Amino acid sequence: MKNLNVSGVSGISYLAVIRPIPQKRVTLLKRGESLCSRNLPSAGGYHGHYLVTSILPPKILGEWRFLLTFERMKNKVKLLFICLGNICRSPAANAVMQQKVDAAGLTDRFLIDSAGIGGWHVGSLPDIRMRDHGARRGYRVDHIARQFDPAKDFDRFDYIIVMDDDNYHDVCRMAHNEAQRRKVIKMCDWLDEHRGATSVPDPYYGQGKDFDYALDLIEDGCTALLLHFAGE
Ligand code: 4NP
Repeated sequence: MKNLNVSGVSGISYLAVIRPIPQKRVTLLKRGESLCSRNLPSAGGYHGHYLVTSILPPKILGEWRFLLTFERMKNKVKLLFICLGNICRSPAANAVMQQKVDAAGLTDRFLIDSAGIGGWHVGSLPDIRMRDHGARRGYRVDHIARQFDPAKDFDRFDYIIVMDDDNYHDVCRMAHNEAQRRKVIKMCDWLDEHRGATSVPDPYYGQGKDFDYALDLIEDGCTALLLHFAGE
């Protein structure tokens, strides 16, 4: 597309008549290829990535006059799960959400990560108890712990999903403005089968049943998150 002028873009599907730039070799786009808004005329709100969905060849429109139809590609949904240590709840949410997204065939539409408020376990695999309990349900809980980075993570992610009220207050306190603060949401607000729960409690000092309960809540919340964001 580098060697073409694009003009006449309009509509919900974007129609463009394209012409070669003189003295340059022309490589035409193919159906199914994508291009970004840089290649489109700057006028109008053309932001993001576009997919070429149909091409009418010059035979119909005359030499070098192609009619392309573009459809706007949806942006990735970027979700960051947060808990205190990033070795129990949030890496489990990371694994559960990733598996649900993959199973729905939506891998390319989501970016999923997790982080901890504290940095005590940075570089470690998740707690062995969460890895075991997750594996029994078919999840690979293997995120390497990292600490939440307010300087980058508020910009990098669309939503920051916290496990409890302490996490909520800690992350909100690190927000630089109201727009960043609004990205912080609570996992318990997405629960459907556990509507009475007000947090995903920390299982770290608990027993096996506490890890299972955390996974029950996480599965419940991730199902609702997937239903919500898959439609965005
Ligand atoms: P998480 O659990 O926040 O679900 O990862 C914890 C893990 C470690 C600690 C606290 C909570 N800790 O104090 O080391």
